[in-house]
Amino acid sequence: MSRRLAVYLTWLVGAALVALVTTSLEIRVGDAIAIQFDGDPTAASFVEKLAGIAFWTVVTFVASAAPVRLTDGVHVAVSTAPVMAAALLGGPTAAGWVAVFGTTDLRELRGRVVWYGVLANHAALILPAILGGWAILVLKGTGDSPPQELAATLFGTLIYFLLNLVFVSLIVLFRARRPIREFLTRAETSGIWANLLTLAPLGWLMARMYELPGAGWWTALLFGLPLATTRVAYQRFVEMREMFTQTIGALAEAVDKRDPFTSKHSQRVRSISVDIGRQMRVSAGELEALEWGGLLHDVGKIGVPDSVLLKQGKLTREERITMNAHPVLGAQIIGPVDRLAPELPVIRHHHEWYNGSGYPDRLMGDEIPRLARILHVADAFEAMTADRPYRKALSVDQALAELRKFAGVQFDPEIVDAFVKTTWAEDAHEPGRPDLRSIPLLGQHGTRAARPIDGPAPGSPAADPV
Ligand SMILES: [Fe+2]
Repeated sequence: MSRRLAVYLTWLVGAALVALVTTSLEIRVGDAIAIQFDGDPTAASFVEKLAGIAFWTVVTFVASAAPVRLTDGVHVAVSTAPVMAAALLGGPTAAGWVAVFGTTDLRELRGRVVWYGVLANHAALILPAILGGWAILVLKGTGDSPPQELAATLFGTLIYFLLNLVFVSLIVLFRARRPIREFLTRAETSGIWANLLTLAPLGWLMARMYELPGAGWWTALLFGLPLATTRVAYQRFVEMREMFTQTIGALAEAVDKRDPFTSKHSQRVRSISVDIGRQMRVSAGELEALEWGGLLHDVGKIGVPDSVLLKQGKLTREERITMNAHPVLGAQIIGPVDRLAPELPVIRHHHEWYNGSGYPDRLMGDEIPRLARILHVADAFEAMTADRPYRKALSVDQALAELRKFAGVQFDPEIVDAFVKTTWAEDAHEPGRPDLRSIPLLGQHGTRAARPIDGPAPGSPAADPV
């Protein structure tokens, strides 16, 4: 555990403890949460309130028991609804105590989570539960107006949800050194936003039923079914996305497998591209495009015959034309998949050169989509540092020197700069950014049209991957 993470977790757990004790001493538990069993319905005794808190703790526990796993080891459960119901009925003190025990999940009971992880998970829910409960208490007024109470529940749930997200994101951030922005805008997280609007009214309804004269506390249990359905919806959402990623991975693997020398090439290109993207602080959507684009960039090689793809010697003019068609072919293959539209430019332009002598469209400089320029550097570095039948792999130092040498010619110098800062170039000798030759980009616009499209670019370095 890093020092930063340790300091943060100590603060989080300490703050949750102080908030729980202070709230318990200062704000009394609301009568509405009590389960009446001593025959006097007008007064709520301490034991009756305790029974009410225990009831909501059990409901929350059941809802938390099987959380849905998102990426980065973050879990979500549908326990938001019962915690908010407890907050509405018993106020922030009740919500805090329900969050203490109710949010335990099965992985914790089976000892699969380290002790400080258990503390952090609970603290990251106790503080939001108390503050969400406090917001509901302040906003709901006397409780006579259901619309006002519902609005208060929505707002309280929003606070509960947002604070939990921030606390958990900070844990992820300190653990994996990722930017928070990336986590907050993830596709899964936006799925949670939609569910928030389902869970808050559900929590309110559960509390209303619980209080209803003549109905009894057990009626709140009827909501178990919609809660279970919501959980299944979460699960499906995550599974679908996972399946999509795995299918793309399998497709990339199929391409790589055709050539024994390029196995795992696409996976590695994906990792390098994503790391460069992170270094350049591209948006979460662009990171995803790099991830899937990295995996699929050479999918067009499916259409390149073995006699060309696996040829050991120099390619003839015709063979090179066939080979160089793979970016266009790849874009055509992926074209019908709507969900992969952002990846199309990455696939089509991953062999464009910064000076305009690449293919297929001879774009130059900023005309080349930025993500394709990133992928080009990643692809080149991976190709250089992997063994090929006709040459041994270059060392990281040598590959880096090539990238520097051809920055401004083949590669975007800014992207090479970003690459140097990733862990892939961590221990390498860094030759530094050379004095860049001024590239007469405008002049080249005129000359490139005259050049044959299939010829190798002038001064092709070892870095030119196919
Ligand atoms: Fe390629």
